[in-house]
Amino acid sequence: MSLGKIIDKKNNDLSKRIDKQKVPEHIAIIMDGNGRWATRKGFPRSFGHKQGVNVLKKILKASKKLGCKILTVYAFSTENWSRPTKEVDFLINLFTEVLKNEIKEIHEESTKIKFIGDLTPFPKNLKEIISSSESLTKNNTKFLFNVCVNYGGRQEIVKVAKELALKSSAGEIKPSEINEELFNSELLLGGIKDPELLIRTSGEKRISNFLLWQLAYSEIYISEVLWPEFNEHEFLKAIIDYQSRNRRFGGIESLPNESFEDSQYSS
Ligand code: FPP
Repeated sequence: MSLGKIIDKKNNDLSKRIDKQKVPEHIAIIMDGNGRWATRKGFPRSFGHKQGVNVLKKILKASKKLGCKILTVYAFSTENWSRPTKEVDFLINLFTEVLKNEIKEIHEESTKIKFIGDLTPFPKNLKEIISSSESLTKNNTKFLFNVCVNYGGRQEIVKVAKELALKSSAGEIKPSEINEELFNSELLLGGIKDPELLIRTSGEKRISNFLLWQLAYSEIYISEVLWPEFNEHEFLKAIIDYQSRNRRFGGIESLPNESFEDSQYSS
């Protein structure tokens, strides 16, 4: 699929600057700034969330067009319950309505949708539509769309630790068998490839309890734009920035004419 022209302010086509060989396979997004955007415009916060859904639909499409395979978004954190009841209820209704309206197209595009988090406190109708959407799309293979709801990274890690402790005390595994691979496979994302790139909008420079384990080596891109104003252009800017990074995973880049003995550390 061609990327199409995405023109920047200087009339440059950003899509031409994308290296198709270096597109991240898994992108995670903290969609932040819905409330602030709406308030600044004199609208209720709910309007910001509605606009946020429109942006999410566009970014989902843009990710597929780019050749990315997995998109994981933070839609509702374990901390979001502390918002006013009216806003929490609005968000729960919005998730339900969006799923009802979009699931047909999501399925037709061979996208598998998964909800990541503790669904227990959500109302029955939302739980039902989540369950039917997940089972309808479970065999789709083109794209994986993870929506994190009532999700918290610390809670996820504690849950896995408890499960492994129980398995160990039941004699199903030995403590010595617990390693990163086993731990990772028990996480809610089920051991899929970690995100290479995390995008957070609205200029905030925090991870906010999102995918704490999985983001260990992800590149982080902070966009100053509030989520309702984020678009394909801003998305491509994040990808171009990611592609300019040198991912060393804690190692060092080997440069010509450089040896350890030559360095200032040798005695
Ligand atoms: C953060 O903005 C946004 C949220 C807490 C909700 C995001 C949810 C959506 C965009 C809907 C997604 C729907 C589905 C079905 C996937 P904020 O309210 O924290 O903004 P603020 O920081 O300006 O207050």
